[in-house]
Amino acid sequence: MNTCDNQTPLAGKRILLGVTGGIAAYKSAELCRLLIQAGAELRVAMTDAALEFIRPLTFQALTGQPVASSLFQGEAGNAMEHIELARWAELILVAPATADFIARLVEGQGDNLLLATILASKAPLALAPAMNQQMWAAASTRDNLQRLRHRDVLIWGPEAGEQACGDQGLGRLREPSDLLEDVIDFFAPGPLEGRRVLITAGPTREAIDPVRFLSNRSSGKMGYALAQAAWRAGAEVLLVSGPTCLERPDGVERIDVISAEEMRRAVLEQLPGQDIFIACAAVADYRPRQPARDKIKKQSERLTLELERTPDILAEVAARPNRPFCVGFAAETQELEHYARDKLAGKKLDMIAANRVDGDDGAFEGDDNELAVFWDDGAIELPRQPKTRIARELIAIIADQFSRRRP
Ligand code: C5P
Repeated sequence: MNTCDNQTPLAGKRILLGVTGGIAAYKSAELCRLLIQAGAELRVAMTDAALEFIRPLTFQALTGQPVASSLFQGEAGNAMEHIELARWAELILVAPATADFIARLVEGQGDNLLLATILASKAPLALAPAMNQQMWAAASTRDNLQRLRHRDVLIWGPEAGEQACGDQGLGRLREPSDLLEDVIDFFAPGPLEGRRVLITAGPTREAIDPVRFLSNRSSGKMGYALAQAAWRAGAEVLLVSGPTCLERPDGVERIDVISAEEMRRAVLEQLPGQDIFIACAAVADYRPRQPARDKIKKQSERLTLELERTPDILAEVAARPNRPFCVGFAAETQELEHYARDKLAGKKLDMIAANRVDGDDGAFEGDDNELAVFWDDGAIELPRQPKTRIARELIAIIADQFSRRRP
């Protein structure tokens, strides 16, 4: 457990400061000093262009650590420094981030130590751009930043004002003291700190015979994004997942299940002590009444399967005494609010998030989603955006409503 007080709000936080080649690189030294003063464990990585603006010795003296700048001549002597740094960092902050560096990052290039480290790291990435105002306004820079935002990269700044080149406008590096505040905010306890959240995600598969099943098009992406967002908001998160191709989100515990009945059992077993239950899984509504023990042969022209209803996991959880705060999902093709509010009342939920699944918008399989969220005396529309981002917004709404009802 890290110790933390007002003087050292970043105590024990492992931050990699990346410095790229812009005139604002000199300000990184001040940022470095402020971060260390706030208690952070700091390592610095510089690009070759940054070395033209400021000497590594400055950072070495401030951090007491060697500065990483070469992919091949690092301390470890085995060309593995980028991997070691990538695993070590809890946050990578590139300040200043030049237009060129941003473009390379978008492309996924890894031909310098800092880019390779970012590629190899699961740590959140924040950029503090600094460049001439015309470069900042350039269509290519705008596009690149948009693409990075979609990948969940944090963009801090830039500021408007007088620039080193004499121009006025947006493009100045955010002040080191403001960047320090951004970093402190980033590490501040989230609204779900100390809470336990149980989430179901993905489809279920209902066996027809040993090799065939009934399922649906759910990718699990929304549930996984919610799990990640809830963890980032400070919660202890347990994900009960149907079959998906997705990796376990960082920090999240996952139980894999196949069928609706397996999902039900896992959820009920894990339920005690959970504060919030988010049922995001597209649980199959029906299953073959009697799955065949052997593979069904294609003998007859027609085959009739008798189906029965699966257990409604969410309704069962919501009907329990001392139940957690219950959030459901509703995928509808029409009359969104009407059906969503019906489910909210019918299943006795605290909140429901509804999305339209008609047309080609790919809400089930795609990377984007839009939601209409309803609760007893309120509603909010979350416009179309990447599932990772919409998940963060939905978690913030859930945390807010949860704290109002169960202070
Ligand atoms: O009634 P409907 O299937 O549309 O309700 C959807 C909501 O109920 C989702 O939150 C889904 O995860 C949950 N659900 C469930 N068990 C089922 C069917 C749906 O938990 N068998």
